[in-house]
Amino acid sequence: MAEERGAGAPVRTDRSTALRTHTCGELRGSDEGRTVTLTGWVNRVRDHGGVYFLDLRDRYGVTQVVTRPGEAAAELLESLAALRPEFVVQVSGRVARRPEGMVNPDRPTGEVEVVAERVETLAPSEVPPFVIEDETNAGEDLRLEYRYLDLRRPRLQRIIGMRHQVTMTTRRHLDGEGFLEIETPTLVKPTPEGARDYLVPSREYPGRFYALPQSPQLYKQILMVAGMDRYFQIARCLRDEDLRADRQPEHTQIDIEMSFVDEEDVYGLVERLVARLFTDVLGVGLELPFPRLDYDECLDRFGSDKPDLRFEGEIADFTAAVAGSEFQLFGAAVEQGQCVKGLVVPGGGALSRKEADALEEEVKLAGAKGLARAKVTAQGLETGFGNRLEPDRAQGMIAACGAREGDLIGVVVAERMKANRALGRLRACLAARAAAGAAPGDYRFLWVRHFPLFERDEETGRIAPAHHMFTMPLAEDLPRLESDPLAVRAQLYDLVMNGVELGSGSIRIHRRDIQERVMKVIGLDGETLERRFGFMLKAFQYGAPPHGGIALGLDRLVMQMAGSASIRDTIAFPKTTSALSLMDGAPSEADPADLEELHIRIAPRAARPQEGPGPP
Ligand code: AMO
Repeated sequence: MAEERGAGAPVRTDRSTALRTHTCGELRGSDEGRTVTLTGWVNRVRDHGGVYFLDLRDRYGVTQVVTRPGEAAAELLESLAALRPEFVVQVSGRVARRPEGMVNPDRPTGEVEVVAERVETLAPSEVPPFVIEDETNAGEDLRLEYRYLDLRRPRLQRIIGMRHQVTMTTRRHLDGEGFLEIETPTLVKPTPEGARDYLVPSREYPGRFYALPQSPQLYKQILMVAGMDRYFQIARCLRDEDLRADRQPEHTQIDIEMSFVDEEDVYGLVERLVARLFTDVLGVGLELPFPRLDYDECLDRFGSDKPDLRFEGEIADFTAAVAGSEFQLFGAAVEQGQCVKGLVVPGGGALSRKEADALEEEVKLAGAKGLARAKVTAQGLETGFGNRLEPDRAQGMIAACGAREGDLIGVVVAERMKANRALGRLRACLAARAAAGAAPGDYRFLWVRHFPLFERDEETGRIAPAHHMFTMPLAEDLPRLESDPLAVRAQLYDLVMNGVELGSGSIRIHRRDIQERVMKVIGLDGETLERRFGFMLKAFQYGAPPHGGIALGLDRLVMQMAGSASIRDTIAFPKTTSALSLMDGAPSEADPADLEELHIRIAPRAARPQEGPGPP
């Protein structure tokens, strides 16, 4: 698992309140002799034969509280003896330097201890269901049920603190660049953007519904028509979609829209923002600008639209090198218009048969028939397919991919995009292995741009927008919008880092004629269009400026910055992968009276064939 990194400089400000003079992360050697009062949770309490060691914890750190042999009053010892983990206590005493050899260099407060004079329990605690420590073996479900205890763990406190720093720095930075933070509504018109809407019934208007926003997309575009010019929002987005490990039903976006811009303006703004975040929050300098890569080239070279560039290997095209080969698998395939492409597995010559078979499984999962393998030796290629490949063609393959002695070349023969996707899957697998052993702190950003405007919906066979239907086609592709829509590229871009899509956006269509053409291509009839998007199209008739924008996934960004493996670590109260909130039990049944008022009657769930009749 990737390593954690801290959330910037330790907090060292005056946090004194009525109940405390200092926090548990504040005292240093220079405070020796001070009388202090601390408050916090009992992290650990040890009784060494009447001498107590108490670790007191709060959000700022841990401070050791002690008693000196023979010096503590009976009443004090009694209070200490009653303490249990997670009790909330107030401790008064004097700061002392720790004796020689007892200094704890791993703790900012490790030079000192507080010699207790008075200890008061402010609130007792039940025995917690797991120990509040970074290394916990408690299952995630239990931790989510007791999220308030889970959040006491220093690791989560650090990540939530980092998230705060990211949002605050974002606000400061965008304010500095002249952006207005504007809230868009949470109860919106249902206009599915891709995922399913969460619907909210209207009490006043029986049978009518609001939706929770999947993103502020339409509103931010209308704000451009309203002349707001530079908008941002730390926006909550709600999508009732099939969940995956890095998705949540509600996530937060740094949502941005700008008028009178082109793609480069958006890239520049986001690069400055991201660089500022990495400097201010992590103390890491990023090299700007980030590379830009067209979607087509990205797929040809990396087999993915979100490649992890920490792994350097690229897909090689052997089609020219093996054309005309007697070796049928290659020669005949090329003749039939297929591609022969491959990827070098560095040092892969030493892989066992079983390990190489596992790599083959990866490409098969992506639809390839198999992975032909060849070891690079001093003599040339040692192939599973014998000597049927001519030596000069073998040398051509080695030259095309730059493989070295000891490497393995994995080859896929397929239609170009299928070969790319299959090798992309293999590459992602090699990249993940390499990343697991790599030092943290290697951040490889990339803009992937000019995605196809449309894609064919696998289920319906119809042409659908690849991102959303307000994305502007590339000017040079406009003439083939109707004649060859699937070949039309869009002014559409993703920000990718280390194999993760951090953000996505586009330059939008601001001209009604182009918008109507796009809508025709996707087969939206005038009536549906009017019903769903009429309000937006109407706004666009009143002087819509050219505009574009982007949304960065805040949760994913923080996850990457914190080096965490789970998106749930970055959200105070996340849902499980099955969209449940284990702490409060949402979703739960509603009171029949409430449903009545909302004009809702629950239909019995239709029995699924394998289930037979449901309960009575
Ligand atoms: P999109 O749907 O690509 O674009 O979302 C933008 C970014 O938000 C993050 N993200 C998510 N994070 C966690 N859980 C989810 N379920 C989830 N869905 C998306 C990703 C993604 O890159 N309106 C457009 C943006 C625009 O065109 O300006 C939009 O929402 O990091």
